[in-house]
Amino acid sequence: MKKFRGIFLKNDYEIGLLREANRIVALILQKLGEHLKPGIKTIELEELAIDLCHKYRVKPAFKGYHGYPYALCCSVNEQIVHSFPSQRRLEEGDIISIDMGVIYQGFYGDSALTFPVGQISHEASRLLRVTEESLYRGIAEAKVGNDLYDISRAIQTYVEEIGYHVIKRFVGHGIGTKLHEKPEVPNFVPKRALRLPLKKGMVLAIEPMVAVGNDQVEVLSDKWTAITRDKSLSAHFEHTIAITKQGPLILSKP
Ligand code: MF3
Ligand code: CO
Repeated sequence: MKKFRGIFLKNDYEIGLLREANRIVALILQKLGEHLKPGIKTIELEELAIDLCHKYRVKPAFKGYHGYPYALCCSVNEQIVHSFPSQRRLEEGDIISIDMGVIYQGFYGDSALTFPVGQISHEASRLLRVTEESLYRGIAEAKVGNDLYDISRAIQTYVEEIGYHVIKRFVGHGIGTKLHEKPEVPNFVPKRALRLPLKKGMVLAIEPMVAVGNDQVEVLSDKWTAITRDKSLSAHFEHTIAITKQGPLILSKP
């Protein structure tokens, strides 16, 4: 694969495979969303996700990744990311971020979204809208000639204008034949940001995590579950996109 500053540039064939991997992730997330209702246990979502991986003949990408034990991350309310599916029953008013990855013919798909469970508060639904919008504002900057941090800036500026906070501990990433490739895609502009021009063929997982309270994170004793230190609500939306001559192409769409 061609490289630019250590970043793999994918050709059209490889982008086709990444499109298929990510399309399957999007389909699975859509089906999980249809099953969400108050009373369901998050482990039931995990079981459904595993069944769907068999159906689509893909491998779950997270299970076994650095020892992560499940196919899904199911992060509820103040949980930000990397939360284990469990016997916990979802309740009316909860929000749940479901993050899912698969491997299809050696190529990775990765996407996440936050769903409302039944009726949710105005604050919660605003958080979902703002986080998703910040993702789309970031994606809009993912074009040839722009800088990597134009994506980061678009996300951060929008979120902070609203008065919410981007989580800085976790970042987006390049993706291809590995789940995490160069470059890191922060949801904020780093202090000593080097310029990195975006090139055709870069494939990025852009994934803003946004909290209502502040950006302080705590990782629980299971070594994975990340929560907001102040227990305020947090949301997470992630798409895998390819940078093409015609602009950003969202791969993680059904
Ligand atoms: N979308 C997340 C990421 O890119 C999910 C990773 S879960 C893990 O980091 F288990 F694979 F770490
Ligand atoms: Co990711």
